[in-house]
Amino acid sequence: MDSLHHFISALFLLSATILLASCTIENYTSVKSPDDNVSILFSLSDNGTPQYRVAYKSQTLIDTSSLGFEFKNASPLKNNFSIVSTHTRSVNETWNPVWGENSEIKNHFNELLIEMQEQSEPYRRLHLRFRAFNDGIGFRYEVPMQQSLTDTLFITDELTEFKLTGDHDTWWIPGDWDIYEHLYNTTKFSEIDAISKRDHPNLAQTYIPENAVNTPVTMKTGDGTYLSFHEADLTDYAGMTLKIDSLNLKMSSNLVGSDRRGHKVQRKAPFNTPWRTMQIGERAGDLIESNLIVNLNEPNKLGDIPWFKPTKYVGIWWEMHLGKSTWDYESGRHGATTENAKRYIDFAAQNNIGAVLVEGWNTGWERWIGFPDREGVFDFVTPYPDYDLKEVVSYARENGVEIIMHHETSAAPRTYEAQMDTAYSLMQDLGIHVVKTGYVGQIIPEGEYHHGQWMVNHYRKALETAAKYEVAINAHEPIKGTGIRRTIPNAISREGLRGQEYNAWSVEGGNPPEHLTIVPFTRMLSGPIDFTPGIFNIKFDEYQEKNQVNTTLAQQLALYVVLFSPVQMAADLPEHYEGNPAFQFIRDVAVDWDESHVLNGEIGEFITIARKEKEADNWFVGSVTNEESRNLEIDLDFLDGDKTYRAVIYKDGEDAHWDDNPLSLQISEQEVSSETVLTLKLAPGGGQAISIFPKDE
Ligand code: NOJ
Ligand code: CA
Repeated sequence: MDSLHHFISALFLLSATILLASCTIENYTSVKSPDDNVSILFSLSDNGTPQYRVAYKSQTLIDTSSLGFEFKNASPLKNNFSIVSTHTRSVNETWNPVWGENSEIKNHFNELLIEMQEQSEPYRRLHLRFRAFNDGIGFRYEVPMQQSLTDTLFITDELTEFKLTGDHDTWWIPGDWDIYEHLYNTTKFSEIDAISKRDHPNLAQTYIPENAVNTPVTMKTGDGTYLSFHEADLTDYAGMTLKIDSLNLKMSSNLVGSDRRGHKVQRKAPFNTPWRTMQIGERAGDLIESNLIVNLNEPNKLGDIPWFKPTKYVGIWWEMHLGKSTWDYESGRHGATTENAKRYIDFAAQNNIGAVLVEGWNTGWERWIGFPDREGVFDFVTPYPDYDLKEVVSYARENGVEIIMHHETSAAPRTYEAQMDTAYSLMQDLGIHVVKTGYVGQIIPEGEYHHGQWMVNHYRKALETAAKYEVAINAHEPIKGTGIRRTIPNAISREGLRGQEYNAWSVEGGNPPEHLTIVPFTRMLSGPIDFTPGIFNIKFDEYQEKNQVNTTLAQQLALYVVLFSPVQMAADLPEHYEGNPAFQFIRDVAVDWDESHVLNGEIGEFITIARKEKEADNWFVGSVTNEESRNLEIDLDFLDGDKTYRAVIYKDGEDAHWDDNPLSLQISEQEVSSETVLTLKLAPGGGQAISIFPKDE
């Protein structure tokens, strides 16, 4: 009897504990990164609003922040929830990108899926999936298939908050809905004032709706932790800008809209949003070494794409930006002639450059910019009379050089879509596997924006259609990178920043020296950059006196390593490279890598990256500084301990200076090993590039 009594009371106690435990699960739950340093705490507020918090070690990085949606055709999904169930899962795998900064990528996280349901009519269900990585977090909304949500949902806004816990140093560009081509601002979070930056000196009609920033937006906390906010896998959804609430140190999602349709996103359940991400690093360089963005994308759907080979390229391009020649034919200074293309092909063939880009080859350039009616203007198959496309392609083939196609759409995507199949199929017939696209101007039709859902789908359609014809895309005026290169690796590169071209013509004098010490920690976190480095004729006074490149020559070389892209332009004119010994670095440098290491760096000050060439034993190092000169010590301990190497060093001359003496450069050679420590001496606005080749045993 006694024992039965005991048994019953034990049972009672057990069920009480279970009740208590499930009670806890009902209102909050958490997940930690594999190394335990990053934790995400999920909770429901008293009125059933989903909320989350993020901590790193002992610091709270994101304080209680709410989640939800507002719709045009339904009541908001933002409160009155209860948790139906939670699921956890761990993944620890490695995968191999077909090209990239590293040949092997580790994907290691713990996941928490929370399934919620409204507690009253219409009992809609919403899921939240959180992933905790050692280098940050990602979460997304998942709207499952359900009876109470069968109509298309018109999202007027997503209500994702990021409540910061300090007034961090912040590197940001305004939340422009059309273009990312802005200089970075460095301010305290509370001093972000994107509205006053609304005037774009060169592209006056871009749209910046509120005090918002574009992502990646990068921060440094008072404790010296580095953070960057972005998104991953932006598919069939609007791009996210972040609205700034400086008083409450809070950011809220502000999706790019469509005036034409009066909502921001239209989707039918089931669907997932893109991942909202926060990368976390102890060193600024950790943000760059992080693979969180690509890891939050689906595995490769295209398989190997042997028809695309990472390559350096030259092109009929900078000469138009300088005004030496033109894209259009009527000017009498047309750049894309058969003869000129052959000149670039000869140069490429002689200098280990794999490809030649030709802009201005097709009809339509007479009406491409400043014309409101740009639909039906560009033709993507018809060359100007002085350009024999077939002849150029066969000449290139005879010389072992690829041609890179160019499709400027002038932001008339419907015109491009109508011709996509024809244009890509022409490329396939000619054996051309890379196209550079462009979207200059305001999107036609009016009321759509470059970064809205309609255009996100257009850019994706281009990639998916191109893949069918074995074509890879390097997009200018693109939607931001969000790691889809993992899933569809024909998304090879993009612009999406103030590139080199601004140095040719920007009314405020181009990119200041600090620009390229911020870009690697901000824009580059979203993926490859077609910056087009390698201008040797830095002052180009023979073309125009006002502008110049605001770096030293050594920095132009270093950019091939610091900035990653599987297509990397040697942007200057052949005549500016001929006979210059510094060009040897560009001949030698690789574009596809086995390993990449950020050796040092502070945002807006300096950065040094070392990369190992894919399937070879060569290493390349690039280091750049802002307008301050500095000495940086680097340890070559990444080299193979069993080998000795020959290093060729391209460094700023003693008297080098980005403005006063940009061409001063010293080239020297020395033997190095994994024991070697080098001191890099960088001039104001300067840099250093090093090629490291194993010595024959
Ligand atoms: C802007 C692009 O960024 C640039 O590279 C290109 O030359 C022009 N558009 C013309 O397409
Ligand atoms: Ca551009």
